[in-house]
Amino acid sequence: MAKINPHFNEIAQGYFSAEIAKRAKPFIDSHPGVELIKLGIGNTTEPLVPAAIEGLRKGVEKLGKPETYTGYGDEQGDERLRKAIAEWYGARGMDVEPGAVFVSDGAKTDCANISSIFSDDSVVAISDPVYPVYRDSNIIEGRKVVYMQGLEENGFIPELPREKADIIFLCSPNNPTGAVATKEQLKAFVDHAREHNAVIIFDAAYSEYIRDPGLPKSIYEVDGAKTCAIEIQSFSKSAGFTGVRLGWTVVPKELQAEGASPGTLNQFWNRRQTTMFNGASNIAQEGGLAILSPEGQKQTHEQIDYYMKNASIIKEGLEGAGLKVFGGVHAPYIWLKCPAGFSSWEFFDELLTKAHVITTPGVTFGKNGEGYLRLSAFGHRENIEKAVRSIRENFGTEMFKHA
Ligand SMILES: Cc1ncc(COP(=O)(O)O)c(C=O)c1O
Repeated sequence: MAKINPHFNEIAQGYFSAEIAKRAKPFIDSHPGVELIKLGIGNTTEPLVPAAIEGLRKGVEKLGKPETYTGYGDEQGDERLRKAIAEWYGARGMDVEPGAVFVSDGAKTDCANISSIFSDDSVVAISDPVYPVYRDSNIIEGRKVVYMQGLEENGFIPELPREKADIIFLCSPNNPTGAVATKEQLKAFVDHAREHNAVIIFDAAYSEYIRDPGLPKSIYEVDGAKTCAIEIQSFSKSAGFTGVRLGWTVVPKELQAEGASPGTLNQFWNRRQTTMFNGASNIAQEGGLAILSPEGQKQTHEQIDYYMKNASIIKEGLEGAGLKVFGGVHAPYIWLKCPAGFSSWEFFDELLTKAHVITTPGVTFGKNGEGYLRLSAFGHRENIEKAVRSIRENFGTEMFKHA
């Protein structure tokens, strides 16, 4: 008889967005007239910039003519896009070759699948709190997961692994805390990985939200990182491609691991992708090319400014109400400390039932997230302003004095 994968019993039954929907449902059902403002999910809301639309349209039009029609493309991605991504790194002073770039249908799948090129008995270090995909995907595959503590005391930048770890997942700017690592902090991880023969999986999905040019947008800004780090990127949050689906992963040929000669891991990921992935949509890739053009970059960065203005409205509004908040400066997430005595879910319920604002309980990102909520800056400006106003009006400053 077929046997189930028992590791599914080791993770929460539903992905966190499903849990939130389930929790909010009774209130929604019993208050049909109430309009909820959703600051819970990290989903983009603003229309694609003109350059992206033009690129996508070009992709569609090419499919309508016999001389430009294409079917399956290279699983690794369109050569032009791989080259444009390498040049994008080059313009930022990093040397990434097109052959190290694998275009994907977004960062989530690559974050979940990348560990497959390493041994099953690899120990995986993951920060707590964390984007749950790293944790759950590795648990499902039966790997041992150890946690790096990301606490208020260390500015939510995880400490180095205390136990021996073979794979280390890092996310900066961070989802959920909005914290961003300095170059020195990333260097400490690179030094650690090189010393202990570990590989870092660096999720840079929010790099474009970094405002301070002194902060690293890529792990490859740290010398030596190509020997010990894979980087995963996405067009979702930088260009609103959450529904279009496009990203990339860099697997440097210099990457080292036990049993690997130069190029082995790059070749393994190539083998994995050519076997289990049929390439990103050709239309999406035309859109990606347009986004990486100078005009596309200018337009998408202006859109990011819009979301970051939202972030500052949330941050300042809540701080003005006496709440303690983190993040929201180099990331589209605000990490709110619940007033004393409230757990994550309790304060989630308060905000839902009194202010009609949906947030994400910090505890869904790990045990260190208990006592926090994540608010997302992805939203139309009027909704963001409405949400902040509603929280302030419904609670007033009195209650928050105890926060
Ligand atoms: C840290 C992080 N990585 C990856 C992703 C997923 O990105 P994509 O839409 O490219 O799959 C998200 C989405 O919220 C994220 O927060």
